Amino acid sequence: MYDFKIEAADTATMYYDLASALEGLVAGEPDAVANMANAAALIWETLPGLNWAGFYRNVGGELVLGPFQGRAACIRIPFGNGVCGAAAASLQVQRVDDVHAFPGHIACDSASVSELVVPIVRDGALIAVLDLDSPMLARFTQEDEVGCVGLAEILASAI
Ligand code: SME
Repeated sequence: MYDFKIEAADTATMYYDLASALEGLVAGEPDAVANMANAAALIWETLPGLNWAGFYRNVGGELVLGPFQGRAACIRIPFGNGVCGAAAASLQVQRVDDVHAFPGHIACDSASVSELVVPIVRDGALIAVLDLDSPMLARFTQEDEVGCVGLAEILASAI
């Protein structure tokens, strides 16, 4: 059993602790699905205010649903479509305060209002995106973006 109780006083410390826990979880494990599944569970348990946390994988130039926590979601997303597809096509983090104002946003769960999508890149190539959704307006801050980029860097060599 893994029992990570991350109760940090501030966001930066929380992401530091989360990154340490993630490094421990994936250490020595080469299976990408197992590592994405545990990462999704850890993020879901640690970050407050989420209604979805998980991965879309780059499968032959299309995003395909990977391990996640939350409601059942759209399975395939073409590069360039929606928030995840924008992150995949540009290799840039997408931090969206209100998805209803994002052109082409794909509503997998009507409860989602804000979204953070971080590309996971290895040797210049997109492996997957980490996708976090929240029912709160502007849930994700610059600190969340920096913290999740750190998590994506750990995952880049683990998935
Ligand atoms: N809203 C996303 C689709 C994935 S779900 O949020 C799980 C998008 O626009 O890419």
